[in-house]
Amino acid sequence: MRYLVANLKMNKSFQETKEYLMFLATRYNDNKKVGLTLSLPYTYILMAKYLLEDKPIKIGGQNICEEEEGKCTGEISGNMLRSCGAQSVIIGHSERRKKFKEDNKIINLKIKSALKNRLSIILCIGESLSENKACKTMEILKEQIETAFKGLYENELENIMIAYEPIWAIGTGVIPTTKDISKVAKEIRKIIADDFSVSASEKMRILYGGSVNLKNITSLKNIKSIDGFLIGGACLDGGVLLQIASSL
Ligand code: 13P
Repeated sequence: MRYLVANLKMNKSFQETKEYLMFLATRYNDNKKVGLTLSLPYTYILMAKYLLEDKPIKIGGQNICEEEEGKCTGEISGNMLRSCGAQSVIIGHSERRKKFKEDNKIINLKIKSALKNRLSIILCIGESLSENKACKTMEILKEQIETAFKGLYENELENIMIAYEPIWAIGTGVIPTTKDISKVAKEIRKIIADDFSVSASEKMRILYGGSVNLKNITSLKNIKSIDGFLIGGACLDGGVLLQIASSL
């Protein structure tokens, strides 16, 4: 099974999203080889629940508040996401880490809140260009994983996918070599094996994200050590998303 998570980010109007969802609802075939999730802006989750009813497409959010309820103006809780139809949530995206100053400790609390609300998690991790150039990639990723997973039980990891998204590859058209992605994925599994168990590391689903498109998917899909992809820009065109899904 391969996984494809489409991160719509902050794009499309209500009408455009409706058309996008209706297009996918009619065109997406029950591809047993690919698990497709749409990570939507909050305001469109409920509409997606109705338009995609009975379709083999899962719905997710893009952020969750670490608090359960109350004095958090502008935030969204796990219960709100879940009760509107979301089954998963992206946590730790580099855009949120940077723009909204979300650190690894907050990300750990957000993960706990998502688990409590029965939401599966796509945890984004990734290094900046300067960290990459300074050969600090694995040091950064290890810190991101270990702080994010602090206090979790091994069985809870089954609800989490790790998306490796180098910051310098997001929206730039520049991607790491397949060899480098493979190496990072293996190192991530080693961290999970050391901290939890070999079995947990083998079960961990690892995605790659950053400038995935119709062209580079032909080589990216051959990386054996990853389980799928987190897609931004390319997923905004429903036709392209479907072509990527069917190429896996
Ligand atoms: P792009 O595919 O546009 O590079 O975005 C990747 C991303 O940030 C997905 O979460």
